[in-house]
Amino acid sequence: MSSDQESRPADWEADKYSRTATPQREWSEAVLDRLELSGDETVVDAGCGSGNVTEDLLAKLPDGRVIGVDGSPSMIEEATARLGDDPRTSFICQDLAKLQLDEQVDHVFSNATFHWIADHDALFRSLAGATRPGGSLIAQCGGRGNVAEVIDALGVVNRQAPFAEIFGEYDDPWTFAGPEETEIRLIGAGYEDVECWLEERVAHPEDPRGFFEASFLAPARQVLDDEQFTEYTDRLLAEMGQPASFNYVRLNMTAKRKNENE
Ligand SMILES: C[S@@+](CC[C@H](N)C(=O)[O-])C[C@H]1O[C@@H](n2cnc3c(N)ncnc32)[C@H](O)[C@@H]1O
Repeated sequence: MSSDQESRPADWEADKYSRTATPQREWSEAVLDRLELSGDETVVDAGCGSGNVTEDLLAKLPDGRVIGVDGSPSMIEEATARLGDDPRTSFICQDLAKLQLDEQVDHVFSNATFHWIADHDALFRSLAGATRPGGSLIAQCGGRGNVAEVIDALGVVNRQAPFAEIFGEYDDPWTFAGPEETEIRLIGAGYEDVECWLEERVAHPEDPRGFFEASFLAPARQVLDDEQFTEYTDRLLAEMGQPASFNYVRLNMTAKRKNENE
């Protein structure tokens, strides 16, 4: 892999994600409820994925707009096919840590995305730059302690043949931050009235294997062929005792973009 490829966000199986990501959509309801909207604002859905949650956000903006941003071309394609005919939407494929918009938006909303991004300082600076002073950041992502059983299983199977050779030195792809360091980072990036907290959730997906593959294994799916991917998933699920549910810890954040002239 070239360094350019390494720094690019992973592509996803958008169709499978769309069908299986019911827990993420359910959990997003409470996050969306924290957005204080009049209905005519412009809001970025940061890491919009296949548009499941974007659709719910759009319903809160009868006279507003949503700019869906995602780093995965297939997610953007899926979201555009689903919602792109609505003149209140636009979808762009960009890395959120280097976001370039033509305007400053009223608010940034994000669900189930920030833990996929390694450099949270760069991410928050980028989002702050895209938000008008007084606008808010309302987000939830995986936080400290998230999916510990999955991480343990990955640590075991990624050291087994042939995966040890394929993946090399194993480093899991997530940043599961705590509320304290996140508050410091948000303030440093130009936010105020910052509040971050953790909450525990359990996902009971209808199709645990499909959910597991579509949500956790997006980076592995890009590297493994079909046979290897099946074997990899089999071993991970066996290592975890064929789970019917997954234990999550979510990191919530609420913050207001500071007016730099104050
Ligand atoms: C678990 S999905 C969440 C999708 C949607 N927000 C939801 O709640 O269903 C995470 C999304 O983050 C996107 N993503 C990961 N890293 C990214 C980055 N650096 N820039 C933009 N999008 C990124 C992925 O492509 C994926 O669509």
